[in-house]
Amino acid sequence: MLRLFGALVLLGLALACITSWVLDSYDTAWHPKRSVRPPAVSGSEASTPPYPNGELSNIFWFIQVSDIHISRFLDPRRTPEFEKFCTDTVNAIKPALVLATGDLTDAKTENNVGSDQHEVEWQAYHGVLKRSRVMERTKWIDIRGNHDAFNIFSLDSINNYYRKYSANQKMGSFHYIHQTPFGNYSFVCVDATLTPGPKRPFNFFGILNQTQMNLLDTFRAESQRSNQSIWFGHYTTSTIVSPSPGVRHLMSSAVAYLCGHLHTLGGMMPVLHSRHPHGTLELELGDWMDNRRYRVLAFDHDLLSFSDLRFERWPAVLITNPKDAQYLHPGLEPLGRMRKSTHIRILAFSEASITAVHVSIDGEPVGRANSAGGPLYVLPWDPSLYLAGLHTIRVTVEDSAGRSSELEQLFTLEDGLTVSFSFPQSFILLTDHYIVGRFAFVFTVLLNVCVLLAFRFLRFPAGRGLPSQICLSLHLVSKINTFFYSLLLFNLCTALGPWFFGELVDGHSGACFAFGVFIDGHFLEGSRTYIVGVIQVLSFNMPLTSYLCWCLHHRYRGNTFRSHFQRSGLRCWTLVLHLFVLLLLTWQAHSCYFLLETYGLLAFLMSPIHTWALLLSLLLVYRAWTGPAPLICGNSRSASRS
Ligand SMILES: *[C@@H]1O[C@H](CO)[C@@H](O)[C@H](O)[C@H]1NC(C)=O
Ligand SMILES: *[C@@H]1O[C@H](CO)[C@@H](O)[C@H](O)[C@H]1NC(C)=O
Ligand SMILES: *[C@@H]1O[C@H](CO)[C@@H](O)[C@H](O)[C@H]1NC(C)=O
Repeated sequence: MLRLFGALVLLGLALACITSWVLDSYDTAWHPKRSVRPPAVSGSEASTPPYPNGELSNIFWFIQVSDIHISRFLDPRRTPEFEKFCTDTVNAIKPALVLATGDLTDAKTENNVGSDQHEVEWQAYHGVLKRSRVMERTKWIDIRGNHDAFNIFSLDSINNYYRKYSANQKMGSFHYIHQTPFGNYSFVCVDATLTPGPKRPFNFFGILNQTQMNLLDTFRAESQRSNQSIWFGHYTTSTIVSPSPGVRHLMSSAVAYLCGHLHTLGGMMPVLHSRHPHGTLELELGDWMDNRRYRVLAFDHDLLSFSDLRFERWPAVLITNPKDAQYLHPGLEPLGRMRKSTHIRILAFSEASITAVHVSIDGEPVGRANSAGGPLYVLPWDPSLYLAGLHTIRVTVEDSAGRSSELEQLFTLEDGLTVSFSFPQSFILLTDHYIVGRFAFVFTVLLNVCVLLAFRFLRFPAGRGLPSQICLSLHLVSKINTFFYSLLLFNLCTALGPWFFGELVDGHSGACFAFGVFIDGHFLEGSRTYIVGVIQVLSFNMPLTSYLCWCLHHRYRGNTFRSHFQRSGLRCWTLVLHLFVLLLLTWQAHSCYFLLETYGLLAFLMSPIHTWALLLSLLLVYRAWTGPAPLICGNSRSASRS
């Protein structure tokens, strides 16, 4: 009992350590609503001219679209609607540039399990760009995502169709400077896609090595000369493996990092925005694939504002002055300009002409904004009325097709006041999930192995009651060589050994381990592997051990497979337990099928932790029920039975 208590305390401590360490990695992210930040820009500098006024000047806007996933098998409307986006939406908005942040194509096989590059998907993408002539009307910057790197051994591979069919055709990170008469604006692409690019699912995390980090660092230094910089990439920073001090640190001179990749987590997180400890905003954009999302962003007098929109929902509205209180970057943006501005500034876009732009502040109508040319609508205001605290601005835009849309946001003109992001948003975007995965994996595997070893070498308990029954059954499993060595070997193999050998990229064999993936002489550091590993341990290794314990306990008490059904008082429970184990075995069988489908027959046959483990578990379960009933020497009970 005492020992059990000790173990529980240890477990609790370990969990507490992990939790505090996880919290540590985004402590600065969930500050309270009112937080004072260091005034990195001195007051005078922050309010140097130009000030936002009633003219169409010192402003440009651009679009981001992400995770397009052009597919030859799924959703036949996806590509035509994307074409419509390139023609009609881009026509209505007339952005200075468009960032397509990765996953241009879906690159999955017909059964949606395997992954492969399909030239027809790339041709479809290319066809859209060509027919819509979007590249003549705006600067189209498309970069690779993880799907665009599935099953590509090297950048020169023939199936790296991005080289041939994309607009940008730039692999690796790069720095693009958008020049305007009123300033230069840097756009730095972070390309963390893997080379070689394995098939699913080991392509979920991106990796930046030291060479790539150094390159990004030179871009960071170059971009200091620009008025503002935006960084963009496919992966969220939480899904990029990078050497210390990490990719977030590198981009601390940027006002925002734009990315995609997480697809609103299947609708669970419709808005995924947060702020890095250094102040950079991380703005994940939902996918085009299912949600038809896109984003309009604007730099207005060097203040960044943006609006996440849906395809064909007109009019689209973006309030650029005063900007949204949640997305202030006091260290980099000249926020004092809002206090000295003479006009409220709104960008309103629609396919039909805009007929009215109504503005109200804190519920009071303040008037109608007038066109200042292009999509800009302005309304004179007196900012000194709103100097303290948070206020609400609401804008209603109507167009000649009878549509209207409304945008309401908070703003503040007070120094040091910000609105924080919710805990789940910050957790998803600011935690290095591969590190959490690594900890969880080491912890669960150690727990499994230690329990086996401990009960192998501990004395046999004499007590009664449920805890001692559990101890007894663990002793049975640990002290019988067949079970002990099989389970130990299996757990060690999960931790250290190869999981499977096979064609991780077509034509190039490799091996998968928890700590990383080898492909034809290249090594990709472990990341997703740890998460797969934790799931494997929790859903298979642990339940298998527990089930064997339970079987042996029955055998020890003299039951057989048939008699334990009759004797057990809670027959329903027994049935549920067996069904549960059947389910786990089915799940394991599915893993084997996945292996066969994605990596081929070799991987299926040469897979210690899937195929072999399934066979091993069947043998062990069979042995537990049919082998000799366990007896333990030196134990009073077994002695009395013999
Ligand atoms: C951009 O930077 C230049 C040089 O520092 C400055 O003169 C200009 O006013 C800035 N542009 C804006 C819109 O603030
Ligand atoms: C933008 O960059 C170009 C080229 O480096 C430079 O000539 C120009 O003066 C810059 N413009 C501003 C407003 O800083
Ligand atoms: C880093 O990655 C790039 C691109 O994948 C590769 O060319 C380079 O050799 C790598 N550098 C090191 C030090 O591994």
